[in-house]
Parts: sequence; structure tokens; C-alpha cells
Amino acid sequence: MDFTKDEAKVAVITGASGALGSQLVSILKEEKYIVVACSKRTAVKDAAFSEKFDIADSEAVRRYIKEVLKRFGRIDILINNAGYAGNPKAVDKTDDENVLRMFRTNVYGPLYFMREVLPTMKRNGAGKIINIASKAGVYAVPYLSAYSASKSALIALTQGVAKELKRENVSIICVSVSPAGMNTALRAKVYGKEDARRQQDVRAVANIINNIAIGRMAVPQGANVVIKQKHPTIRVMEDG
Ligand SMILES: NC(=O)c1ccc[n+]([C@@H]2O[C@H](COP(=O)([O-])OP(=O)(O)OC[C@H]3O[C@@H](n4cnc5c(N)ncnc54)[C@H](OP(=O)(O)O)[C@@H]3O)[C@@H](O)[C@H]2O)c1
Repeated sequence: MDFTKDEAKVAVITGASGALGSQLVSILKEEKYIVVACSKRTAVKDAAFSEKFDIADSEAVRRYIKEVLKRFGRIDILINNAGYAGNPKAVDKTDDENVLRMFRTNVYGPLYFMREVLPTMKRNGAGKIINIASKAGVYAVPYLSAYSASKSALIALTQGVAKELKRENVSIICVSVSPAGMNTALRAKVYGKEDARRQQDVRAVANIINNIAIGRMAVPQGANVVIKQKHPTIRVMEDG
């Protein structure tokens, strides 16, 4: 399919009912993107199209992306934002269900989305993929070992895909973003409301992610952007 320059661009945001996701929906709409969204249980009202499903269900992800392409014909931005962190626990107290849920949500889901979205981006010759990891994925956090490991896996997954894209010489940028603590329900659930109130403002983090998504802030292929106290630090991808 050919695209005209003035045709509206389409952004897909997962976890759009959550704190960071809903800010991303609102900012990208202000940027005149057609924003399509998904969540697990909570409906997203202000997106052009939204569905509720578990991102760890690869069939559901496939159906959803097929429907998005049927309705809007293109995907310019994918933000893998949905994430799950269980309660803090020593690793010897961690149960199977929680570990699996973290890896399914934080790693498998983003992989399934990239797998479905990359072919259409490759056909269009352009695209931007942003995977929302965590500072915990760079500097592991005690009692959140499995969460930290799942976000490290997401950063590695991002870099693997970025290296594939480099080899294929296509104009698709795939990067990860690692926010430090944000004042959201997820943080409050893990460390309590008092702690959450001391964390960085989620809107400020969303603004930085938006700048990366629309190309206002240049980030090299495969980089990981750590956002701490509303300040982005770019960690470039390295080879061994
Ligand atoms: N908050 C922090 O301090 C912090 C710090 C670093 C990184 N992060 C990361 O930033 C991202 C956003 O965090 P947040 O604080 O905005 O989280 P949040 O408010 O808890 O929102 C999480 C979102 O993910 C969705 N979700 C969770 N599991 C899902 C699944 N299996 N399938 C589909 N959707 C699912 C939720 O949908 P429902 O509402 O429908 O359940 C919700 O929309 C996450 O990846 C998180 O790990 C957060």
C-alpha cells in the first residue's frame, strides 16, 4: 500500500488503560496520530479503536493487529507499554504463577506484538518500536528479581530485533525505555502510596517517550533510554 505524506499516522499503545499508557494515548492524539489501544480488563475510551485481551495470548495479539490493519491500513508506532510487577518477595518465596505472569506480560507480549507489526512496517519501509522496560532491568532491584530479569530480557529482546533491523537495512527504529519509579498505581502497589508520591511524574516520562516516538528526540537503533527524575540518559547498544 502507498501512503501519502498528509495521511494520518497510526500509533498502537498496549497497556493504555494504565497510568503511563493513558498519558501516551492523550499526548499522541495531541500530535494528531490515530491512536489505537489495548488493555487487559479496563476499557480504554479515548482511543480510535481499543480491545481488551491478554497480551500473552499470541492468537489474540494476531487477531488484534489484523483488525487494526483492516481498519486503519498502517502502523507507524508501536509502544509496548503493558507491564506487570508482582508484590516484592525474596526469590525463594516467589511462586510459579507470578514469575510466569511477569515473563508472559513483560517479554512474551512485546515479542508477539513485534512479530505481528514488523512485517507491515517492513512493507511500508518505516516504523518506530518502543519497548517500555524499567530501570530495574538495568540495575536489578532486590525482592523484584523476577521483574528485574523480565525487564532485562525485554531490553535484550529489543537489542536483538534492533540488530536484525540493522542487518536488513530498513528504516525501522527499535529502542527500549527504562523509567525509574513513577507516581502510578503499579508503584503504589509494590511500595505503597507514600513512596509512589515521591516518584517522578508520569506525564513528564510520557512526554519524553512521545518525543522519541515521533522523532523529536533522536535515539540510535537499539539504545536503552533510562529516565530518572524526568531526565533521559541514552545508553547506546553495544556489541560483545
Ligand atoms: N510505575 C513505575 O514506577 C514503573 C517504573 C518503571 C517501569 N514501569 C513500566 O511502565 C509500564 C507502565 O506502567 P504503569 O505504572 O503505567 O502500569 P499500570 O498503571 O499498572 O498499567 C499497566 C497496564 O498494562 C496492562 N496490562 C497488564 N498486564 C496485561 C496483560 N497481560 N495483557 C494486557 N494488558 C496488560 C493493564 O491493563 P488493565 O488495566 O486492563 O489490567 C494496564 O493498562 C509497565 O511496563 C511498567 O512495568 C513502571
